[in-house]
Amino acid sequence: MSRSSIPVLSAFDSSVAVLKEGYRFIGDRCDALGSDIFRTRIMLSDVVCMRGPAAAEIFYRKGRFTRRGAMPRTALALLQGRESVQMLDGEAHRHRKHMFMEMMSDGALARAADLFRGEWEAVMQDRTGRHIVLHDAVGRMLTRTAIRWCGLGLRDAEPERRAEEFAAMIDGAGRIGPSHARARLLRRRCERWARGVIHGVRKGLLLLDHGMPAERIALHRDPSGDLLSLKTAAVELINLLRPIVAVGRFVVFAAHALHTQPSAAGRLSADAPEEEVTAFVQEVRRFYPFFPVIGGRVLEAFTWRGHQFAPGDWVLLDLYGTNHDPGAWTEPETFAPARFYDWAGNAYMPVPQGGGGFLTGHRCPGEWLTIALTGEAVRRLLATEYHVPAQDLEIPMNRFPTGPRGGFVMEIPAPSK
Ligand code: HEM
Repeated sequence: MSRSSIPVLSAFDSSVAVLKEGYRFIGDRCDALGSDIFRTRIMLSDVVCMRGPAAAEIFYRKGRFTRRGAMPRTALALLQGRESVQMLDGEAHRHRKHMFMEMMSDGALARAADLFRGEWEAVMQDRTGRHIVLHDAVGRMLTRTAIRWCGLGLRDAEPERRAEEFAAMIDGAGRIGPSHARARLLRRRCERWARGVIHGVRKGLLLLDHGMPAERIALHRDPSGDLLSLKTAAVELINLLRPIVAVGRFVVFAAHALHTQPSAAGRLSADAPEEEVTAFVQEVRRFYPFFPVIGGRVLEAFTWRGHQFAPGDWVLLDLYGTNHDPGAWTEPETFAPARFYDWAGNAYMPVPQGGGGFLTGHRCPGEWLTIALTGEAVRRLLATEYHVPAQDLEIPMNRFPTGPRGGFVMEIPAPSK
């Protein structure tokens, strides 16, 4: 580790504190130290932890960090995968990322929201007079939405199996032990299916509407003009489908906010103007805990805040802490969608899905899709009649990913006769 004048935690290793304190570990230390950057050891490795928009700007500067060797292997295996866009750098990264960004036209985002609305309405009609666990129900709705949005047929894609696999990958990414092992098995089953899809598209056995996301991935060529390997294309198809299902966590958080923050939600209605719904969604993305941190390994030496970063150094940018940084936000612990009215946009705050440029760095290509789907969910929640029975709505801050313990139970009343 390079020379430095930044604070160093006195603990020999912080792994136990990270597991115990979860999302708040880095931010609380920054507050106590009066510094947005400090050094410690996690899993016996030296690491620099940073938070705040200025740190995000440094972290997302073009060419400065790679994601290779920066994530726990357990998370990598279930989330992005070794051959994925996130493991690429430079021109190879830009070229592959462009493929994802091309899928995010306004029309494509609107189509995703329409598909989701159809799935929502079908489920709510079916469940009248009964209760649903929103987390589970929305996972199934978004699996079907994702499959159809990618251009695949529901019958071929077996949505029940896919829903089980995606849920296991998302839940298992931050865990170790049996649930992680089960998720690895289900991931392998999903990869076999995805390879079959790519093979089918390439051989003309599976006909998709032209230009649909699954077809784009199957026929994408790398900078040297070659098709992606079957394995890599399958991994990228999963990297498109699985995170669409993960948007369900924001949907549950939106329901949680509508229920627990009625004054903040007060002026919203199902047909509210787009800006108001988007402000609510942005605040959900800022306020609630999802991705705690993002890891990088330094590619080029540089100095920031008196610390010399050397190639290979491990750095964690605190995403949750940046979204709750008291130096960047007024009353960060208050849920206040109004802070996003007339929001001019800022690439370094909030950063629930990373920051910086989409093509020059690793910022999530699914951000607009996430906002579109969560926005549609907010409208559906406001348009649906439901009751929230007494339940534990606490959100544990040391579980990755987290959410209300019971998954947010809703009672859908029977239609009045
Ligand atoms: C559910 C909400 C989502 C969250 C919280 C989320 C979060 C993130 C984060 C933190 C990163 C890493 C940024 C970095 O390495 O600097 C990322 C990257 C990525 N996300 Fe998302 N994401 C979400 C939804 C989506 C959706 C809907 C898609 C589908 C298009 C998607 C596809 C990807 C891909 C392909 C990358 C890798 C990008 C790259 O390395 O250039 N994500 N996401």
